[in-house]
Amino acid sequence: MILLEGRSALVTGAANGIGRAIAERLAAEGARVAAVDIEDVPDLGPSVQALRWDLAETESLEGLLDAAEAAVGPLDVLVNNAGVFEPALAIDLTLASYRRVLAVNLHAPVFLASRAARGMIERGYGRIVNITSVHGRFGEELALSYDVAKGGLEQATRTLAVELSRHGVLVNAVAPGFVSTRMSVVDGKDELESEWFTDIYVKHGKIPIRRYAMPEEIAEHVAWLGSERNTYTTGQVLTVDGGLTVTF
Ligand SMILES: NC(=O)c1ccc[n+]([C@@H]2O[C@H](COP(=O)([O-])OP(=O)(O)OC[C@H]3O[C@@H](n4cnc5c(N)ncnc54)[C@H](O)[C@@H]3O)[C@@H](O)[C@H]2O)c1
Repeated sequence: MILLEGRSALVTGAANGIGRAIAERLAAEGARVAAVDIEDVPDLGPSVQALRWDLAETESLEGLLDAAEAAVGPLDVLVNNAGVFEPALAIDLTLASYRRVLAVNLHAPVFLASRAARGMIERGYGRIVNITSVHGRFGEELALSYDVAKGGLEQATRTLAVELSRHGVLVNAVAPGFVSTRMSVVDGKDELESEWFTDIYVKHGKIPIRRYAMPEEIAEHVAWLGSERNTYTTGQVLTVDGGLTVTF
């Protein structure tokens, strides 16, 4: 079963972690992929074109779409995956950090969706998938700007779906829980290998599946939501967290 034969896709944050797994998966499903990152994207095969771009430069995002479409053709699929997390207590939050986190995690996805949707509407087909987080619904210490951005992106997913679905453009979000990427490394320590993670989340079953996820397990759902096999799901947040958010 090939999900994306002949389709063109843009994936942000494709140099590492979940975005890289998504770019690889979409290419394996037959798509031509523009793989965007502020860092060098490794060689992910002949159907993946790397594009170096700083998504925090909100004014430049229409230029990014032009460059992506020049590389892979008119876009059928947009995956807003790039994200940054900058830990700070609420009382210590700096304006520069708040602006950066909001620019990458919220403003870029919203403007890329807005502008990519114009061409998708003209062609009568499109799929937009936003990568949010369980932080879209739950708060955590040190995560004010990240939580604000992810909550905003989940609401953007719903409102975009309300406006775009009638034109054949379906918009959804995938909200991961704990995933093994460099984002789980805080101050040089991988929190997924810590004693507290093993104790609370694994041994005591706060994550019912009793392990963290691998990036490919998130990409699996993005590939389906981003394909024409998805005909009737729009405006939804698919939580892929091993059951984390159904326990207390
Ligand atoms: N790892 C997790 O546990 C987890 C959980 C929930 C949600 N997420 C979300 O998944 C997405 C991917 O995160 P990840 O865990 O793979 O982290 P990651 O750090 O491995 O990947 C994020 C990518 O975004 C890129 N990026 C950051 N700022 C950018 C900018 N200004 N312009 C262009 N690219 C930029 C980075 O260079 C990097 O390649 C993020 O949106 C993150 O919030 C991750």
